[in-house]
Amino acid sequence: MKCVNGVKESKGYLDMLLKEGEILSDNQLWAFFNLAKHPHAQERLYKELEQVCGKKAVEEKDLGKLAYLKGIFYETVRRHSPLPLVPLRIVHEDVEIDGYHVPAGWEILINIWEANNYEGEWKNLEEWKLERQLEFSVEEDIYRTMVFGEGNRLCVGWAQLVKIASLVIGRIVQNFELKMPTGHKEDYDAIINTGSHKLRPLFSILTPRNV
Ligand code: HEM
Repeated sequence: MKCVNGVKESKGYLDMLLKEGEILSDNQLWAFFNLAKHPHAQERLYKELEQVCGKKAVEEKDLGKLAYLKGIFYETVRRHSPLPLVPLRIVHEDVEIDGYHVPAGWEILINIWEANNYEGEWKNLEEWKLERQLEFSVEEDIYRTMVFGEGNRLCVGWAQLVKIASLVIGRIVQNFELKMPTGHKEDYDAIINTGSHKLRPLFSILTPRNV
């Protein structure tokens, strides 16, 4: 946080969050890209927000009633896995995984992107298909995507991120209609290395609602 009167500037968690808040994360960008490409989904989300929040801006306490918004978040991170690979694991003892022998001392790399894009698990996996997310109950959140890992090393920021990203997506859609510019091309290209990022900037037309 910046301090006044010559007191030294200190850096804390809040500073980090505020700094990160200056730009949209890739989750939010991909969500807006998909919403602009799927006007029916966007309209359905707008109606859901209107039904639950009326004219008020969506708040954290509303999120439990917004199943469609939740689906948009999860389907976006499934389709565009933000963290394709997790850090290397060292195997401490011999194990058998799904018929494969993994000896102690090996290092293994878990491919989360593949888990989210595995044909045996997801039908039409290339599609940003919200219907598949609506089939999960609240207790089944863990099966919606592998994006936050699993087991002992499960992402501790998961719940926080779902809330922040959902509120940003919900508030933008409450206030603006997103459209693709005429003649836009398919633009799913991403740079995938330790993270996955949209290759080109998002071009979308935002029209204020209720003016
Ligand atoms: C799109 C955003 C995010 C994704 C995709 C993500 C994904 C992951 C994954 C896959 C892991 C497991 C890594 C492993 O198995 O070794 C992890 C761990 C972790 N994440 Fe996240 N994360 C995200 C955002 C956040 C945020 C916002 C926070 C904090 C506020 C956070 C804090 C952590 C921490 C502390 C761990 C380590 C947990 C442990 O090793 O016990 N993450 N994350």
